[in-house]
Amino acid sequence: MRVTCHVNGEQRFADDVWPGESLLHVLRERMGLPGAKNACEQGECGSCTVLLDGVAVCACLVAAGQAEGRDVVTVEGLADGDALDPVQQAFLDAGAVQCGFCTPGLVVAVHDLLERDASPSEADVREALAGNLCRCTGYEKILDAVRLASGRAGGTP
Ligand code: FES
Ligand code: FES
Repeated sequence: MRVTCHVNGEQRFADDVWPGESLLHVLRERMGLPGAKNACEQGECGSCTVLLDGVAVCACLVAAGQAEGRDVVTVEGLADGDALDPVQQAFLDAGAVQCGFCTPGLVVAVHDLLERDASPSEADVREALAGNLCRCTGYEKILDAVRLASGRAGGTP
């Protein structure tokens, strides 16, 4: 089947999508968008987080057909040309990236959180990111990045 959706501001389609194929697979393998990572494919790690109609979801758990006609934003869609999204910049500045495998999903999740609440409490940050696993950083630098992004946006976490 053909799946057509709006991805990072553009109308995109993929042909010959099989019914059980995930949105993550379509994004990565058919649309040339490898930013969302494929780690567990079970909804456990958050590395594949994208926004679907503005809601953060694990793209590995979304059937591609469910994205028909909907709006998808991946980590590639957050930057404005060469200008990084403020959350991406905060991750760099805080040293919150090691191997980087978890980073795209975390950036999308933090972006989503700060869109909803520019000044989240520490508990709210931890809860919002509970589904995003990182095996490298010990999370402290990631929390620093969230504080940095929030502070730069005018929040006071
Ligand atoms: S790859 Fe989707 S949650 Fe891990
Ligand atoms: S930086 Fe390596 S998994 Fe998070």
